Amino acid sequence: MQGVNVSRERSSLAVVTLNRPHKRNAVSLEMWHQLAREFESLAHDDAVRAVVLTGTGGHFCAGADIGEFGDARHDRKSGARYERAVDAAVEAIMSAPKPTIAAVEGYCLGGGCSLAMACDFRLAHRDAVFGIPAARLGVVYGAVDSRNLVNLVGVTHAKRILFSARRFGAGEALGIGFVDAVDAQSALEVACEWIADIAANAPLSIAGAKRVLAVIQSEISESARAAIEEITTASLESADYREGVRAFVEKRSPVFTGK
Ligand code: COA
Repeated sequence: MQGVNVSRERSSLAVVTLNRPHKRNAVSLEMWHQLAREFESLAHDDAVRAVVLTGTGGHFCAGADIGEFGDARHDRKSGARYERAVDAAVEAIMSAPKPTIAAVEGYCLGGGCSLAMACDFRLAHRDAVFGIPAARLGVVYGAVDSRNLVNLVGVTHAKRILFSARRFGAGEALGIGFVDAVDAQSALEVACEWIADIAANAPLSIAGAKRVLAVIQSEISESARAAIEEITTASLESADYREGVRAFVEKRSPVFTGK
């Protein structure tokens, strides 16, 4: 079924699959909600010891569904609502008290990177392609996602990735710490093997370590979050945002004016 599917690989391993292959698994607003619900439910399922997140059709995820932006993300109010839906999905993945891994093949762009970074580990096929094209769309990457990016690769690489909006391959992703491993075999199969080894360890110990590491990583205060939301939603009222979305739909390069 199109959307977000959950299946079991072995009895204790859940596989969450983004299933919208004709749109390169671009995530609709409904899918962001679905992701949050599924991960919250898996968090409470004691039979599940680890979760793999992946995509169908040879791609992980081409990011948020830009085709919906005209309705679902057209001004500050709808933008803030949209941002909260993305954050809820990302935070549900991050707070799941069991190990999670993203099995990445093909494109992993924008919101796709947000999902991959929310997982504890990222296993990439050697042909995988990453990138955060927010600067090609005239939007600002969100607070939680930006923090996850900096935590993984450091602020220098984060700036390069965000400012340039360019795509980079699995080898470069491995070199900067964006992914944990690269393999020539099926990303899903390798990720299942990788996480099954970890899942054999004491669940309470892993859940505890995950919580401790989350706490000692920089938390974003409510006031900082509100300030960041102001920046991210303001961009949705810019001419450049409209131009970025229009250019994508019209399959041409955007012409930005800084307005
Ligand atoms: N939102 C909405 N639709 C998307 C999408 C997205 N993020 N990414 C891909 N699609 C759609 C395309 O519009 C196309 O739809 P169509 O067949 O109705 O025209 C279909 O998925 C296939 O994409 P296409 O561009 O033809 O495939 P490709 O293999 O040549 O390129 C990508 C794939 C992912 C490189 C390219 O589609 C792309 O750049 N997508 C946008 C990525 C992006 O900016 N993500 C950040 C979103 S915040």
